[in-house]
Amino acid sequence: MGIEKLIRKDLLAFGGYSAATSPETLDGKIDVATRDIVKLDANENPYGCSPRVQKALAKYNKFHIYPDDGQERLRKAIAGYAGVDVNRIVAGNGSNQLIDLLLRLLISKGDEVINLTPTFGIYSFSTRLCDGKLVELPRENDFSIDVGKVKSAITSRTKMIFIANPNNPTANLTLEADIKALLDTGVPVVVDEAYYEFSRKTVVPLVKKYDNLVVLRTFSKWAGLAGLRVGYGIFPPEIAAFILRIKIPYNVNIAAAVAVEESLKDVDYLMASVNKIIAERERLFTEIKKIKWLKPYPSKANFILCDVLKGNAKKLYQQLQSKGILVRYFDQARVKNCIRISVGKPEHTDALIKALRQIGGE
Ligand SMILES: Cc1ncc(COP(=O)(O)O)c(C=O)c1O
Repeated sequence: MGIEKLIRKDLLAFGGYSAATSPETLDGKIDVATRDIVKLDANENPYGCSPRVQKALAKYNKFHIYPDDGQERLRKAIAGYAGVDVNRIVAGNGSNQLIDLLLRLLISKGDEVINLTPTFGIYSFSTRLCDGKLVELPRENDFSIDVGKVKSAITSRTKMIFIANPNNPTANLTLEADIKALLDTGVPVVVDEAYYEFSRKTVVPLVKKYDNLVVLRTFSKWAGLAGLRVGYGIFPPEIAAFILRIKIPYNVNIAAAVAVEESLKDVDYLMASVNKIIAERERLFTEIKKIKWLKPYPSKANFILCDVLKGNAKKLYQQLQSKGILVRYFDQARVKNCIRISVGKPEHTDALIKALRQIGGE
């Protein structure tokens, strides 16, 4: 029997998500030792997690016991940080998992999801996996959203509009007035605030007014917990109750739960790292601007998108990789021939700028 007959037809040509390169996979392929690789390709936190997390996990002695499936303590701690009622919160295995769960909950075959491109790839990835119909609308030249165009794309089958705010990979914010205008349509709007701690702009205060607003956040970026996979959603309470029912049991592992609780006891420490990253973002921007063949876009996140004005972005990505510096490249509408650079420590900026100057023959 051909295995292909068993597989959902719409997934036969599904390319999957292209995740960032793990440094260990480059072992032996480039002349740089894995430990010396400068990883600026996944918007991770170069300062790592709170030392309280390391200590608590080293001491923890109940890894043989399942975590609390209802996430009671975890949800309470997150609710305190986010400043919302605990009945709105659900934690996920990364905020990615909450995107998937929300789509599974709301999408029946053929329902439409509006995606404002270029944007974070998981929205389209999960929509396709959940058998939804993607309605992709390009952002404007300055990466803003034309609310009129979005409204006219809404049909009786539109079940969700995704807005990453700040957007990945473009790093810009959407005006709150535009988000409100979309919320006023009554269609569920997901505002993904993965980079909130770097932008300091949030629509969380709107959750009481709009019962069609979902806000997603993550501990991957500001709290340095990307490897432990934990994010959360702030949902209308009825939706949160459904998400808790349809999630797989124990979706957040105990190490992640302990790490979140400790991180939330050490917010000042983590915010000091965030502040260093914000300061470095501005220095990185200034340094990139001095390179004539790159055009950086202003950023409200922990990464900077750049147009490659001379040469090919993919080639530049490869050249940087061979020097042990990892970035992402993009070659799609609105971000044709672009690279995205995560903000690292000052020494990472220095290494990157040196490599760019060498590549440019300066
Ligand atoms: C906009 C956006 N949302 C969500 C995520 C992923 O978050 P998590 O690690 O919590 O799944 C990312 C990661 O790059 C992102 O850019």
